[in-house]
Amino acid sequence: MKKLNTFYILAIIVMIGSVFSIVSSCVPESKCDPELATPFNLTLPFRFPEMNLPTDNPMTEEGVELGRFLFYDTTLSINHQVSCGSCHKPEFGFSDGGKQFSTNSKGMMTKRNTPALLNVGFQNKFFFDGRSGSLEEAVDDAIKNEMEVNWEVTLPYLEKNTFYSANFKKAFGCDAVTKENVLKAISQFMRSIISSGESEIDKKFFTTNDYTQLSPAASRGFLLFTSARADCFHCHFTNILTTDNQFHNDGVQYNDGSFNFADNGRGAITNVQTDNGKMKTPSLRNLAYTAPYGFDGRFNTLREVVDFYADSVHMSPTLDAVMIHTGNIRLNLTNSERDDLVAFMLSMTDSTVIVNPKFQNPFR
Ligand code: HEC
Ligand code: HEC
Repeated sequence: MKKLNTFYILAIIVMIGSVFSIVSSCVPESKCDPELATPFNLTLPFRFPEMNLPTDNPMTEEGVELGRFLFYDTTLSINHQVSCGSCHKPEFGFSDGGKQFSTNSKGMMTKRNTPALLNVGFQNKFFFDGRSGSLEEAVDDAIKNEMEVNWEVTLPYLEKNTFYSANFKKAFGCDAVTKENVLKAISQFMRSIISSGESEIDKKFFTTNDYTQLSPAASRGFLLFTSARADCFHCHFTNILTTDNQFHNDGVQYNDGSFNFADNGRGAITNVQTDNGKMKTPSLRNLAYTAPYGFDGRFNTLREVVDFYADSVHMSPTLDAVMIHTGNIRLNLTNSERDDLVAFMLSMTDSTVIVNPKFQNPFR
């Protein structure tokens, strides 16, 4: 009796199996449809703008999670020692913790300071010189230049790894282990890294529009920041993301009066002389974790940055007009006003986002 039962069960399984294989041969690859992946629900903090997502790379739960593993996987670099997360560390707001420059897979120092990646999905040009027009392109640039990926080694590695092959399939469908999908998954993960909405400025100011809700020092700093006294808002406070996403020469580089700078920034990409010395405005959110500051990490503290804007802006042919305040290149700011500006910037500290378990290194 027992044997008979097993026989029947087996027969039924075989029958069901063959019905399925007939059905699935009519609908090829139905089990590999990327649309079966779960749409990712991006929770935007209060008043944040919608993110422009590329139509060919919608965010999915599976894609974002796969991207997290790839972001932290050192095996993708030629020397197996460097991952995106080696330079973009979550505990330092996705910058490189105190380092002016970072060490890449060539064992060499990066040309610029590693920027924070918080809210990077809201941008439309990437790197200080804006050389990439999409996040996917930026990932391609980073994985090539900072990690020297060898796709002929990396793709077979991912394919043979049972975790990756299964998860690429879940996120992108059949035959999914491709360079394009590696870039897409990492981009999806980065787009998920957005502010928590728990910083002082979000909870107290952006929800009320009343700056006096901030601490007394930060409220005084707010008034300086957003007025002609310090004149920071033109570039850093045109929106809630604290960057206008444009390129400016803020006078940080010494210049001999010619159009040549040690780092021509935007100009080296556009080949337009008047773009020389311009860099993309960085966001000021989470500066508490991202020292040192500036495109070349020349400032160790926020006070040094404020002192620079007040006392040391360099004149040059491409200097932004905003840096000249009613004919004066210097800002007349007292000691305590400078501290107030720092206090205001620190009201943008988001200690929640940096400990979000969804952004941490899964290999640890
Ligand atoms: C060796 C350190 C290092 C590694 C590894 C690294 N980066 Fe970066 N990243 C940098 C530096 C330095 C810059 C700024 C370069 C510039 O502006 O020219 C940067 C800039 C970026 C930007 C532009 C951010 C913005 O605001 O415009 C993105 C996006 C980015 N990296 C993503 C990644 C990803 C994804 C990986 C892994 C594939 C990665 N990075 C690996 C150091 C690194
Ligand atoms: C004309 C546009 C402009 C104005 C005005 C401006 N900034 Fe900037 N800011 C930039 C650009 C561009 C950078 C990146 C280049 C650099 O300085 O290295 C930057 C960098 C910074 C940084 C470093 C951020 C980081 O992550 O490294 C801080 C902090 C900062 N600005 C604060 C201020 C303050 C405070 C003021 C007002 C006193 C101000 N900025 C005025 C454009 C501007």
